[in-house]
Amino acid sequence: MDSTFTRRGFLHGTASAATGLSLTAQLPATAQPLQPVVVSSANGLRATQKAMDLMHKGADTLAAVVAGVNIVEDDPNDNSVGYGGLPNEDGEVELDASVMHGPTKRAGAVAALRNIKNPSQVAKLVMERTDHLLLSGEGALRFALAHGFKKENLLTDASRMVWLRWKETLSTRDDWGPGLSILEDDELAQTPEQQQLLDRIIANRPTGTINCLALNERGDISGTTTTSGLAFKIPGRIGDSPLIGCGLFVDNAVGAAGSTGRGEECIKINGAHTVVEMMRRGASPTAACLEAVKRVADNYNGNLKKLSQFNIHFYALNKKGEYGAAALFGYVGPNRKRSQYAVHNGRENKLLDSAYLYEAPLKPTS
Ligand code: GLY
Repeated sequence: MDSTFTRRGFLHGTASAATGLSLTAQLPATAQPLQPVVVSSANGLRATQKAMDLMHKGADTLAAVVAGVNIVEDDPNDNSVGYGGLPNEDGEVELDASVMHGPTKRAGAVAALRNIKNPSQVAKLVMERTDHLLLSGEGALRFALAHGFKKENLLTDASRMVWLRWKETLSTRDDWGPGLSILEDDELAQTPEQQQLLDRIIANRPTGTINCLALNERGDISGTTTTSGLAFKIPGRIGDSPLIGCGLFVDNAVGAAGSTGRGEECIKINGAHTVVEMMRRGASPTAACLEAVKRVADNYNGNLKKLSQFNIHFYALNKKGEYGAAALFGYVGPNRKRSQYAVHNGRENKLLDSAYLYEAPLKPTS
């Protein structure tokens, strides 16, 4: 994959793909079994492994990806998903998730769900056990409890400390934070490393998220996206992850796509649906993801100063088992970490470099 795509090169590539008009949906079904593939965001290497293992044992693609992301939802050290996710401005963890099952053309989602650490499982139950598609807030919680989920405190001490630090540094015109004192030590930030981590998170509020997409040997495709959303959000804020067509879209005849990063930008361009529609018209997964990223950039007329305030990432997998990903920025953060994604291609499970529109933001983003 050409991950150093220039914008001009990308536009050229997209134009030729569009004129090719090889509609993937119209390809005859192949009698040959396909090579199963699982694609995820960079925090999803364990998810891709788990999903592939389950598919090898015959699991359905949706059951496989949900079991995969459950590992990350359960992980207290991933502060962008499930248990340990960074909370809203009130210090409460609110989770969003969606699922789509390609072969049966069904979907389910939950938004602003509190106290349940596996929102992807609840989203799957919304799909399977209701005639609705999206439940939110109190209703989503009551639905989860009715199905036997247990209420838990999802705020880990580490995430609480970050939230508290954010709250204390928001303003000098309130009384949060150490008062006037002869002491110079900040008791919340015990080490310089901890201080640096807190400062970095607060400067670039994470919109983490995990997306996971799977294709099995029969050509069936499913996906899920799950997140704790934008750190310190206004309570009730819903991002792209639970919105079908935004943080996730699956069309069993074409492929699947998902997104991580700043949800508001994804919603404005119906990101995942855009990617799948580009693939339907013949674009490769990488070119389709880059087109979505380009639309995000166009919403700011390519103003790099504004775009530098966030990153956004799209992931795609088509019916033939081809995959790709693209980010707005190729290198992010103070250490210029490469934007990557996780792929299990049936033989190996690894991180790959994503294509990108711009090399790096004007200032570090998370
Ligand atoms: N992409 C996750 C969010 O913005 O909530």
